[in-house]
Amino acid sequence: MLKRLMNRIIGFSVNVLKRKLIARNYISVLERSTRMSSCLVTRPDLPQPLYDTLRPMCALDVWQKPSIMPRDELLERIRGKSTLVCTLSDRIDSQVLNSATESLRMIATISAGYDHIDIEECRRRGIKVGNTPDVLTDAVAELTIALLLATSRRLFEANKAMRNGEWKTGWNHQFMCGASIKDSVVGLVGAGRIGEAVLQRLIPFKAKHYLYSGNKAKPSVDSIGAKFVSFDELLEKSDFVIISCPLNDKTRHMFNEKALKRMKKSAILINTSRGPVVDQSALYNALKNGDIRGAGLDVMEVEPIPLDDPLLSLSNAVILPHIGSAAEDSRLAMAVLTARNVMAGLQQSPLPAPVCQ
Ligand code: DGY
Repeated sequence: MLKRLMNRIIGFSVNVLKRKLIARNYISVLERSTRMSSCLVTRPDLPQPLYDTLRPMCALDVWQKPSIMPRDELLERIRGKSTLVCTLSDRIDSQVLNSATESLRMIATISAGYDHIDIEECRRRGIKVGNTPDVLTDAVAELTIALLLATSRRLFEANKAMRNGEWKTGWNHQFMCGASIKDSVVGLVGAGRIGEAVLQRLIPFKAKHYLYSGNKAKPSVDSIGAKFVSFDELLEKSDFVIISCPLNDKTRHMFNEKALKRMKKSAILINTSRGPVVDQSALYNALKNGDIRGAGLDVMEVEPIPLDDPLLSLSNAVILPHIGSAAEDSRLAMAVLTARNVMAGLQQSPLPAPVCQ
């Protein structure tokens, strides 16, 4: 009885206070500052320091299943949040931004790539976006080399053949021969931070020529010993073509049927950037018909790749589950940088790794 009376008195006082604040125009400021501290995180399985850093600063709403947050959940739970921590699997377009309403001030993606976010729309709405470049450059470059060697020297095919009992004759002169990098021509499509790091690692392999294509020549890449050429020239001359460019309107399906036909029949294609840079059904046809020799993909048009995708049936396609940055130190550094981006966003300070601010 007494408790109920107390609650009514408290409720009445809160309402009186609220009306006074509304009258003095303080309420929107108050609501804004409360909303400033609500953050949606679309994964429960990111490194713990990320949650530990954010928790004292924000009311965290964390998607609890270790799977991609379903679209309807994202649209529902973004409502009223001031900050979003997302991954490259979450498509952040104007539908999501509309659901978020004006409360959303900051998006921190735990990825270097940001093609999954409508950056122009964020810019127009004054929403800051931060990402995680640099801290994963070495990890992705190392994985690119691993994938290149695994594809050119047929590591997975050889391992499978051995497990299937196909290694019958002891050392065999003809068995599982592949292509050498030494004396070959290596072409990099895109020589940004990761492309350049890949190139540095490839120099000791003693290829005959290193080529690269992109928007313009880059002195730091020229000085490693690579030559800037057109995309077509790179396709025609390279024995190994490595895709290392971001996904955007210019690069989407850059590797279509025409581009794949321009490549040497003996060439190997490696992609550790984004799946949609390659038209995957054109690639399947090229691999099946022998238009190119092989492909190593860490990224696909649809991730995870459906298990009935025809690419998975080809022995000359090496497919990895988007693990470019999956080195423990690199993943931790990505989490720390994401937390720093969020902190800076909340404090209205410049982001340490801005895409737009
Ligand atoms: C990125 O961060 O963009 C990478 O693709 C993640 O591995």
